Amino acid sequence: MSIDLMIHSANQVLTLAGDAPKRGATQGDLAITYSGDGAVAISGEKIVAVGDTLDLLALAGTHTRKIDARGKIVLPGFVDAHTHAVFAGDRANEFEMRLRGATYLDIQKAGGGIMSTVRATRAASLDDLIAQAHARLDTLLAHGTTTAEVKTGYGLDTATELKMLNAIAALAAEHAIDLVPTFLGAHVVPEEFRGQEEEYVRVVVEEMLPCVRNWRLEIGKPSPQSPVSNFQLPTSNLQLLISNLYCDVFCDDGAFTLAQTRRILTRAKELGFGLRVHADEFANLGAAALAAELGAASADHLMVTRRDEMRALARAGVVAVLLPGTTFGLGKTNFADGRAFVEAGVPVALGSDLNPGTSWCESMPFVLALASRYEKLTTAEAIVAATINAAYSLGIAERVGSLAPGKIADVLIADVPDYRHLAYRFGTNPIETVIKRGRVVAGA
Ligand code: NIG
Ligand code: FE
Repeated sequence: MSIDLMIHSANQVLTLAGDAPKRGATQGDLAITYSGDGAVAISGEKIVAVGDTLDLLALAGTHTRKIDARGKIVLPGFVDAHTHAVFAGDRANEFEMRLRGATYLDIQKAGGGIMSTVRATRAASLDDLIAQAHARLDTLLAHGTTTAEVKTGYGLDTATELKMLNAIAALAAEHAIDLVPTFLGAHVVPEEFRGQEEEYVRVVVEEMLPCVRNWRLEIGKPSPQSPVSNFQLPTSNLQLLISNLYCDVFCDDGAFTLAQTRRILTRAKELGFGLRVHADEFANLGAAALAAELGAASADHLMVTRRDEMRALARAGVVAVLLPGTTFGLGKTNFADGRAFVEAGVPVALGSDLNPGTSWCESMPFVLALASRYEKLTTAEAIVAATINAAYSLGIAERVGSLAPGKIADVLIADVPDYRHLAYRFGTNPIETVIKRGRVVAGA
């Protein structure tokens, strides 16, 4: 077998090997190979071996490209379990309003918030939407994110929700980052349905969900009629888009009630969607318990979740996706209690929640810095949360999230001597080299 790329002499290789998800006592299990001579061998887009430099260099051929990681650490690419990376425009004006005392909910009730991004996204062309998101994906990648979940939810009508899905598909085709799509037609009730909330829920359930399911089937067989026939998706990206389509609902004050959330997620499950839930971000309406009851893949935010609800998530194997960038972005201090989730045995994952309202954060290293200080995760627990557990929550832990033979070669080299520096330092980018599917896409 020919080795195309060899990283060698690393201070530490964090393999993250072992069963996923990691929880409780194993939440912090980095499966490190120490000793200052760690190596990773890559052939094509796959990892073929992880071990000692001396052993692995013996496998190298004359064509093998070698990267010396002396004094540095090597780890899997970050998996961002929760983003709204596709949107048009910005909300800098609302940020200023919040600095002067308005709350997120005040702004939303006055017709701003998510709805103002919906207006911009409806007005944007598909190409414009793709171009704006493409630039953000470049920044995510430079900070080490090699796979990201991306939600719709700034369309809130069937045509624009499909436009967002097509943007995600196009980005999956043209950008190095792998994307996992989530349909979030139930983000808020759009202004044209004000006073007719149940009617909007009916549209989501009876019109949008079947349409999105058909989109997923169509995208699998590119044809002149296919909405994405131009994009020529590589088979591997196509697989991700087809096999891992999720449905999410924002269950909160000013968004959807528990009963509405139940109705939408129950139908989505019947139609074959995996489930995710925006739960307990502002008010606890019981969404975490619902996520447990319905066997959701993840419950996200969880800033005001009770202990008994944490235990229910643990029993059901639902991953808690914590988003400290959002709490920080809102200028609040009631961070999710990551320590309590770990102690309750819930597998914890992390995401940036990249969005124009609450968390314009394109850096997973910054998310690690926040999660360790304010959510009381150790650095090791936070790294597990940002790699293998995030991958597990997206149903792709077989392919990414750890460094093991046979897995996709998504590998980072960080210019720090020890993994703890990833959370210890902040405000600069510790990621020096990004390898995506065996290709050096940043640095080196
Ligand atoms: O995760 N909570 C709902 N969705 C986003 C906010 C989206 C927005 O404000 O545009 C969140 O915080
Ligand atoms: Fe979100």
